[in-house]
Amino acid sequence: MKEVSLKQLLNTMTIDEKIGQLIQLAPFFFQDSIKGEITGPMRDIGIDVDKIKYVGNVLGIGGAKEKRMIQEDYLAHHPNKIPLLFMGDIIHGYKTIFPIPLALGCSWNKDLVKETARVAAKEASVAGLHVTFSPMVDLVKDPRWGRVMESTGEDPYLNGEFAESMVLGYQSESLDEVGTIAACVKHFAAYGAPEGGRDYNTVDVSKRVLMQYYLPAYQKALDAGAKMVMTSFNSVDGIPATGNRWLLKGILRDSWKFNGVTVSDYGSVVEMVEHRTAENKKDAAKQAFNATLDIEMMSGAYVNHLKTLIENNEVEKAFLDESVYRILSLKNELGLFENPYRFASEEKEKTVHLSKEHRALAKRSAHEASVLLKNDSLLPLNEKQNIVIIGPYADEHSIMGPWSWQGSETDTISLKQGIEAIIKRPVKTASGTNLKGELTDFDEAIALAKEADVVILALGEPAHYSGEGGSRTNIKLPGKQESLLEAIHQLSKPIVSVLFNGRPLDIKNLNEKSNAILEAWFPGTEGGNALAELLYGYVNPSGRLTMSFPRNVGQVPVYYNHFSTGRPKKNHNYNRYVSHYLDEENSPLYPFGFGLSYTNFEYGTIQESSHVVTEKKGIEVSVEVTNTGKVAGKETVQLYIRDDFASVIRPVKELKGFKQIELNPQEKRTVTFKIKDSMLGFIDQSLNKTVEPGTFKIYVGNHSETSAFIEITYKNKV
Ligand code: BGC
Ligand code: BGC
Repeated sequence: MKEVSLKQLLNTMTIDEKIGQLIQLAPFFFQDSIKGEITGPMRDIGIDVDKIKYVGNVLGIGGAKEKRMIQEDYLAHHPNKIPLLFMGDIIHGYKTIFPIPLALGCSWNKDLVKETARVAAKEASVAGLHVTFSPMVDLVKDPRWGRVMESTGEDPYLNGEFAESMVLGYQSESLDEVGTIAACVKHFAAYGAPEGGRDYNTVDVSKRVLMQYYLPAYQKALDAGAKMVMTSFNSVDGIPATGNRWLLKGILRDSWKFNGVTVSDYGSVVEMVEHRTAENKKDAAKQAFNATLDIEMMSGAYVNHLKTLIENNEVEKAFLDESVYRILSLKNELGLFENPYRFASEEKEKTVHLSKEHRALAKRSAHEASVLLKNDSLLPLNEKQNIVIIGPYADEHSIMGPWSWQGSETDTISLKQGIEAIIKRPVKTASGTNLKGELTDFDEAIALAKEADVVILALGEPAHYSGEGGSRTNIKLPGKQESLLEAIHQLSKPIVSVLFNGRPLDIKNLNEKSNAILEAWFPGTEGGNALAELLYGYVNPSGRLTMSFPRNVGQVPVYYNHFSTGRPKKNHNYNRYVSHYLDEENSPLYPFGFGLSYTNFEYGTIQESSHVVTEKKGIEVSVEVTNTGKVAGKETVQLYIRDDFASVIRPVKELKGFKQIELNPQEKRTVTFKIKDSMLGFIDQSLNKTVEPGTFKIYVGNHSETSAFIEITYKNKV
């Protein structure tokens, strides 16, 4: 539809029809309204069959058949024939489930992440979905928060890179392309910083910290073209994000020029009453609307109060047409006026879902997402070794992780299945404990381990221990899993631990008692096959952590890009009066950027084209990397910068670039990074971007604790 006809359409709409476009409800409302019944949920929201005929958006719904039915019935009753927009959470795959986002981040592979989003979009689009509530780009530092599994980690730059990849994957160049869906970046803003790691708890960061560290990844998603933004549950500077005009109008619309659609999180408009910044639902509707929030998800503030607010001139009336126009434009861009069913096709669902190519990508992404944390020369395993698999994940199919509501366990390959496919003989397993760590067949597990040359321990958390509402104060292996570890350790057999989990765990004990540790996260549909190929050396592990692993929960949050303090711990001579713990190191157990390979990479000295960077002229730094081992491997070369002195406190190190290279044994390659003035800048106390003259350290290495650096100077007037 052309722009003028959209405007004409807008002019013909009644106020009820317009408000309807600003509402999103679950599919059962529409199904019930087809039956003509008023149900409990309708009553709770305060909506009736009459009003449902205007509601413009649907949340979280199954396949093509259901969507076609609802759309058809809806259009038959809608006065202006404006199609419904179907949205849902396609977070790491639709039917073919990829590793959880935190794991995908550990691939450090932007193209791979883009491809997984592309496939997720293809599968979701044939099921009739139009918008996914992804990417989730919240910066996360606290593994007690269960939703760290949905983010790509603790680094603002890396999160921005992956945000871009995901948006380009979902939306491609244009939404006209077959197999695309629109992306909705979330949760705007700073949802990943709840105090104490408790979900939905207070977030309190300064505006400067927000702008410097939390906002850039959302902005990167929008620069890549994301069509929608979801507001977060939390408050930002004392005002709930959903009603925060400074954030939604000031930053998003005025400063970033975003003219797409905003949607609240689930019920977050009416939750302003619980936040106690709105006195009642009407007040909440007023605040959200005046903050320029377009769509209200799953609560009844707009539907019940917006009309009165507008008619009484209690809100800016012009916003209504602006909001509705944005929503109509998105529906138009998706081609829904021409074809309201878009790519929904029961036939295509059969061929596209879980296709051979999609499974192959799921396997490759699980290869690249897994991180080898420890290896005392035990891995790769030898096919002749007599192995047993012990632990609750030995033959478990629930390895897709949270947000895999369309994935099926029967389509998923367990670790046992994957290993048997490689060694071509049956493997004995015993769980020892269930996923919660309650004892099952402990004695059998020990008896079995006694027979083996090598014990594979398959441990971890159940999926529902992480994800939304999945905050925990104890981030050790649940229940008696550590006792199982102790008992097996007593047998003095070599132990390979394979971990399935949605957050960095406290694995200090496991680390001491295992000869090798493979962090598998929740690896998805092809998990078992991918892990087996890694364990047996068919594929060389290349994942690198994007979130630090603490030594224990008391250190949390522990992250590599922390700020300089006035009393840093400088050396190993004991001094009580420095920033430290009496009972633990400051550093994490495994740092950001860390991961092992079956080969070794040696770094030459860092070379620089010049020591001086100016506004006009950047420099190049390079390093020669050699594969000194016996097998080919992939290395992620990481660039970190430290600002030596600045007007505000800066992190001790910040990731500013990375490159992946694949090297055969004895092969070398020179990796070069460009250093520009923009990479040296920061947000100053007046909230402006600035680059201050002075010295900087440039680190190039294989993880965030790398120590090799060169020093450069930035001069702004040359
Ligand atoms: C979550 C969002 C999600 C929405 C819709 C909310 O509870 O916070 O991430 O997109 O539900 O399912
Ligand atoms: C302490 C202060 C104290 C001062 C003088 C500092 O180390 O932080 O509380 O008053 O020493 O003794």
